[in-house]
Amino acid sequence: GSADPDDGASCPLVVVSNRLPVERVRDQDGRWHWRASSGGLVTALEPVVERTGGVWIGWPGTASDSERGPGPGSGSGGGDEDGAGIPTEPFEVAGPSTGRPFTIAPVPLTAEEVERYYEGFSNGTLWPLYHDVIAQPEYHRIWWDAYKEVNHRFAQAAAEAARPGSRVWIQDYQLQLVPRMLRELRPDVSIGFFNHIPFPAPGIYAQLPWRQQILRGLLGADLVGFQRAGDARNFAQAVRQLLGWTVHRGVVEVPLDDEARTGWAARRDTTVDLAGQSDAGRSAALVAEEMPPTRSEREEAGREAGSGRRPSHFGAFPISVDFASWDALGNDPEVRARASQIRHELGSPRTVLLGVDRLDYTKGISHRLKAYGELLDEHRLDVGDTILVEMAIPTREGVSAYQDLREEVEVAVSRINGDHSTVGRSAVQYMHRNLPRREVAALYEAADVLLVTSLRDGMNLVAKEYIAASVDIDGVLILSEFTGAADELRQALIVNPHDVDAIKEAIVRATRMSPRERARRMRQLRRTVRTHDVEAWSAGFLAELDRASASRMGPWRRREA
Ligand code: ADP
Ligand code: F6P
Repeated sequence: GSADPDDGASCPLVVVSNRLPVERVRDQDGRWHWRASSGGLVTALEPVVERTGGVWIGWPGTASDSERGPGPGSGSGGGDEDGAGIPTEPFEVAGPSTGRPFTIAPVPLTAEEVERYYEGFSNGTLWPLYHDVIAQPEYHRIWWDAYKEVNHRFAQAAAEAARPGSRVWIQDYQLQLVPRMLRELRPDVSIGFFNHIPFPAPGIYAQLPWRQQILRGLLGADLVGFQRAGDARNFAQAVRQLLGWTVHRGVVEVPLDDEARTGWAARRDTTVDLAGQSDAGRSAALVAEEMPPTRSEREEAGREAGSGRRPSHFGAFPISVDFASWDALGNDPEVRARASQIRHELGSPRTVLLGVDRLDYTKGISHRLKAYGELLDEHRLDVGDTILVEMAIPTREGVSAYQDLREEVEVAVSRINGDHSTVGRSAVQYMHRNLPRREVAALYEAADVLLVTSLRDGMNLVAKEYIAASVDIDGVLILSEFTGAADELRQALIVNPHDVDAIKEAIVRATRMSPRERARRMRQLRRTVRTHDVEAWSAGFLAELDRASASRMGPWRRREA
C-alpha cells in the first residue's frame, strides 16, 4: 500500500457487489431472517472486508417491495425498513470469522428490477455470453435500461459511502457500468474493479449490442482485474477493436474528451457509434449540480484535461480462498467426527466421489453424471464400494435456463439411481440445498475424490477449498481445464469436461491412485493455495490499485510528497 497516512489506503475499504454476504430470506411461517449467502464472490471477499472493517454495499437478495411477514419480529425491529424488514440505512454486523464489525449498506431492488437487472441482463444476457454462450444469451433493451438504472444506484451508494480519497472496489459483471459512473460522481476516489467470471474472446463479446458502453463503464476504473491472463488479453483486444484506443502493457489510454462526450450522469442512453459520435455532455453539468467539485477535484480535472488521457490499468489477479480457515476446519475434531459419520451413513464405501456446485449450467454437472453412469453401466465402478455425493446449491431459480437444468440433473440422477441403486445403497446421493460452511467442510473431509467439471468457470473456489481442507493429504482433485483454477493447480487430474471418456478415465485413475501419489500431488496443491490465499489476492490487487491511481495523479502527487 501507499505510505501516505492521509490517502485512501488508511480509509476503510468500500466494497461494492451485487450480492451481500448475508441475504434476507423468508421461512415457512412467512417470517424474514438473515442467512449467509453462497457463491465464490462472497466467500472470497468476506475475510477481506472483515479484516479492514470496511463498508460493503450490495443487494440483500430479496425484492424491497416484498410483502411483510406476519406480526412483529418479522423485521429487524426499527421503523426504517422495507417490506422484507431490511434496514434502509447502513448498519453494522459482526464478521462471521473473527467477530470484527463491518458496515453493510443495503441497495434496494424492486421485484421488477430483480427480474430485469438481475435475472434478466446479468444472468440471462451477460452470464451466458461471458461463459462462451454455453446457453443462448438474450438481448432485451428493457433489461439493459434496468441494468443502467440499477448500476447508477450502486454508484450513488458508493459515492455516498466513500471518504475523500477512499479506495472503492467494485465487483463482478453485474456492476460493469459502476466504475465510470462513480468516476463522474467522485473523481477523487481510487476505483478498482474485479471481474469474477471469464471475459470472453472478442468474437463472442462482439455480440453484445451495448459492447462499447460496457467497456467504457469498466474503463472508469484505475485498475480492472481479471481471473486469468487469457481474460485480460481478451479484454485488451476488445478495447482495441471496439473502441480503437491505445492499449500498451496493461494500460489503456482513455481519451478524456471521450469521457466528457459520453457521460453517464445524464441517464440517457449514449448510443455511441464506432466513430464515437454521441450525445454531448449534459453529464458534467448534472454532476456539478448534485455535488460541487472540491478544490482538489478541480485541480485534478485541470491536470487530466492537460494530458488529454487517463490511464486505466488492467491485469490478471487469480482469486483464492482463506486457506487458514479451511485448514482449521479440516483439523477441527467436530468436523472430522462429522465426516466419519457421513461416511458411515453412506454405508462406509471404499470411495466417496463428491461434486459441490451452485446448480448452474456452467458447472458441467450433467457431463459428470454421464461419465459416472457409464462407468457403472460398464461395471468399471460398483455401487458396492463407490458412491457419488452431488451437492447442488439452489441458485437463480427465477431464470428459465436454471429451471431446465434442475429438471435435467434430477432426471439424470434418478435414472442412474433407478438403474444401479440397491436396497441398502444409492449410486448417487443428491442434495439440493444451502449448507453451513462446517457441513461443506465435513463433506470435503469425507470425500476421496472431488469432481470439478465446469464447462467454463472464472476460478472455481470449491477446488481450492477442497485442497485447503484436505489436511490428511489423501484426496484427489479432478479439475476441468476450463476453470481459472486449472492455470495454477497443475497437480490435479486435469480434464476436458466435454470429453466424457476423459472424465471416466480420470475417475478410474483417481480411485486407483496410490496413497503415495495422492500425497505427493496434494502436498504440492496445498503449497500453491497456502501461498496464494485470498489475503495475498486482495493485498496484491489493492497494492496495484494504489500504484495505478498514483500514476493517474502523477506529478501532482509527487509534488505533495
Ligand atoms: P461460484 O462462484 O460460481 O458459485 P465457486 O466454486 O467459486 O463457484 O464458489 C462456490 C462457493 O459456494 C464456495 O465458497 C462454496 O464453499 C460455497 N458453497 C458450497 N456448497 C454450499 C452449500 N451447500 N451452501 C452454501 N454455500 C456453499
Ligand atoms: O462469482 C460469480 C457469481 O456470479 C458472483 O457474482 C455471485 O455472487 C455468485 O456467483 C453467486 O451467484 P448469485 O449472486 O447470482 O447467487
